[in-house]
Amino acid sequence: MIGAVQLGVLAACVVVLVPMAMAGYHLSRNKMLFFSGALFITLAIGVHLTPYFPTVNDFVTTVSSVVVFENRRDSCLSHLHDVVWEVTPSPNFNPLDNNTVNYDKSWAWASSSAVSACGFQKLGRFDASDLLNGSWVVVAGDSQARLVALSLLSLVLDSGPLEMVNKDLFKRHSDYQIVVGEIGMRLDFIWAPYTVNLTNLVTKFKRNRNFPDVLVMGSGLWHMLHFTNASDFGVQLQSLRRSAASLLPVSLETGSNKPETSSASGSGSARRPHLFWVGMPTLINSMLNTEEKRERMTDAMRGEYDKGLQKSKLIRQAGGPLWLLDIESLSWNCGVRCTVDGMHYDMPVYEAVLHIMLNALLIESHQKL
Ligand SMILES: *[C@@H]1O[C@H](CO)[C@@H](O)[C@H](O)[C@H]1NC(C)=O
Ligand SMILES: *[C@@H]1O[C@H](CO)[C@@H](O)[C@H](O)[C@H]1NC(C)=O
Ligand SMILES: *[C@@H]1O[C@H](CO)[C@@H](O)[C@H](O)[C@H]1NC(C)=O
Ligand SMILES: *[C@@H]1O[C@H](CO)[C@@H](O)[C@H](O)[C@H]1NC(C)=O
Repeated sequence: MIGAVQLGVLAACVVVLVPMAMAGYHLSRNKMLFFSGALFITLAIGVHLTPYFPTVNDFVTTVSSVVVFENRRDSCLSHLHDVVWEVTPSPNFNPLDNNTVNYDKSWAWASSSAVSACGFQKLGRFDASDLLNGSWVVVAGDSQARLVALSLLSLVLDSGPLEMVNKDLFKRHSDYQIVVGEIGMRLDFIWAPYTVNLTNLVTKFKRNRNFPDVLVMGSGLWHMLHFTNASDFGVQLQSLRRSAASLLPVSLETGSNKPETSSASGSGSARRPHLFWVGMPTLINSMLNTEEKRERMTDAMRGEYDKGLQKSKLIRQAGGPLWLLDIESLSWNCGVRCTVDGMHYDMPVYEAVLHIMLNALLIESHQKL
């Protein structure tokens, strides 16, 4: 039988070390405290009950339930995109109007038991503000990324300020910065139509040894339209992967980026950014609004660009550093009535993307609301 002292020491180590490791997440200090508090209570109960059970097995059970939690976390991350849509003709349907106004759209997570077990939820304004309190969020990329930024601001801002944002943020092809005072959240939108622009941005963060807590990036449509060369796109993604991986303290399995890794973590201590990739949307060729787009942005080319993404191993699902926000599946499932130009979708699609991202952040930082 293991002495209560050793057990106590072990428990103390867990209580101290787990929150310390988590301090790197830097998301919401309130949540962090809540987490270590909850963990402490669990362990305290465990330790106090242990004398009544004369074997170590009970403690081992506690440890294995942590392992179960890890497995469940991975499975929940894989179910995040299990979303179902309801698209219905709106009450004042007018055949002369476009889909944006003629159809009402809403979404929810699927009701299968695997998805329900994960307890995903659409965060309200208060919870989102709490989660992002004190964070620096950067969204960089093309118009898809801009719509994601807009949906984040729609969640945390009042409608008055939001109208201003709408005007500023939609000035074509420009950067935008806002500090949401009440929650001390800073959001930068950086116009970066090509993957090269994103790689340059990440390189700049690394050089300045200063990077955001949450970095959301995405590109591809511009490259498809202006270069129409999937293998070139793939090469660019690979170099983005190398830069992005070097922002993370633990190097990904490829040996090639090890030196960069150590220099980034040298001053960055335990902080690490949460990285997301905004995937390309489903393209509905016949609805694209120029002849050039219809010629170049074909389904076949779209497929080639997808292969380029898979091969680059940029995304986590393929062993890379970025979590994919799968706009393709969301926009496909919302469907043809959710877009007017076959490329930009209605806000509910980007709202779903946002809530998927926020839930991923919660899961990644071991937090539960
Ligand atoms: C769709 O219709 C609305 C209202 O009629 C209009 O404001 C909007 O510009 C239209 N969108 C497109 C892309 O035609
Ligand atoms: C954000 O954090 C600060 C300091 O921890 C706190 O005073 C404030 O109430 C928080 N705001 C929200 C909206 O959670
Ligand atoms: C993005 O990269 C392209 C190609 O290097 C460059 O021409 C363009 O100026 C860059 N755009 C921005 C906004 O940085
Ligand atoms: C596509 O890009 C690759 C890699 O950059 C290049 O070698 C190739 O020549 C390009 N193909 C065309 C048709 O431009």
